[in-house]
Amino acid sequence: MDRELTLEFARVTEAAALACGRWMGKGDKIAADQAAVDAMRAAFDTVSISGTVVIGEGEMDEAPMLYIGETVGAGGPEVDIAVDPLEGTNLVAKGLPGSIAVLAIAPKGGLLHAPDMYMDKIAVGPKAAGKIDINAPVKENLKAVAGALDRRIEDLVVVILDRPRHSRIVKEVRDAGARIKLIADGDVSPAVNAAIEGTGVHMLLGIGGAPEGVIAAAALKCLGGDMQGRLWPENDSDVERAKAMGITDIKKVLTIDDLVHGEDVMFAATAITEGDLLRGVNYFGGGARTHTLVMRYKTGTVRFVDAIHKSDRKSLFIKRV
Ligand code: FBP
Repeated sequence: MDRELTLEFARVTEAAALACGRWMGKGDKIAADQAAVDAMRAAFDTVSISGTVVIGEGEMDEAPMLYIGETVGAGGPEVDIAVDPLEGTNLVAKGLPGSIAVLAIAPKGGLLHAPDMYMDKIAVGPKAAGKIDINAPVKENLKAVAGALDRRIEDLVVVILDRPRHSRIVKEVRDAGARIKLIADGDVSPAVNAAIEGTGVHMLLGIGGAPEGVIAAAALKCLGGDMQGRLWPENDSDVERAKAMGITDIKKVLTIDDLVHGEDVMFAATAITEGDLLRGVNYFGGGARTHTLVMRYKTGTVRFVDAIHKSDRKSLFIKRV
């Protein structure tokens, strides 16, 4: 993939964030999601790729746009795309921090076709890469991460989705002495944050969406971090769905390379609401300002794009706001 594409992908997530940010706090997560989907889908038409959505808004019969199998782009290299135009629908609806418009791209076959079900996840930054084990007790992983970061377990911050299913790991983390940030939604951002110094996040633990797991893995791969996942089926139909997507060993520990293979991965995320790493969309009289993280594994480049979009010029996307 051409390196120019990285900035094209930043435009795509910017477009989704600009459209979606208008719905902040309006209590309508469906409309917020629709705005993000419409804008992201339209923006893809300007990008020189022949892309196939492998992780998207659902199956073709469930989603009219950005559905699994949809082809997008203006023509170019054949790539697989994982999108989440609005990661954290409730966060935007309630005006809470941590929502992003996000995508990951890899050459064909580079992204695990994750079924829409849960995945148990552990994610850490580069210093702790290779030192985590999803099968080990929570305390062992905390010890390993603390050692890698040259700090005490008490100095670690672990992000966990605030769900009843996590009561056991929350207790284990507390018993071990680490600090916790319980979040309402959106486990992609904290996985990314765990791999960036200064965010105050050192680890993500717990069960969230499997598609979100693949997107987070793409970011962690670009950042040199590490992640392991294991599908967490809730019923037989989840198991069947996973099998239909080619995952026969449902209990397999999926390494970061199982989730995202190859050397040519790109990732882009634009904040919609405020985050630990990225500033949310800010609208003003003549336009809006966005903050985007865009990365490429091949070169290891990590860019923060702070963009002003003028509404009185020929900006392609601000008109959609
Ligand atoms: P949305 O689909 O509403 O954007 O929710 C995203 C999310 O919070 C993910 O970040 C997370 O992986 C998953 O949902 C958690 O699922 P659940 O809310 O069922 O626990």
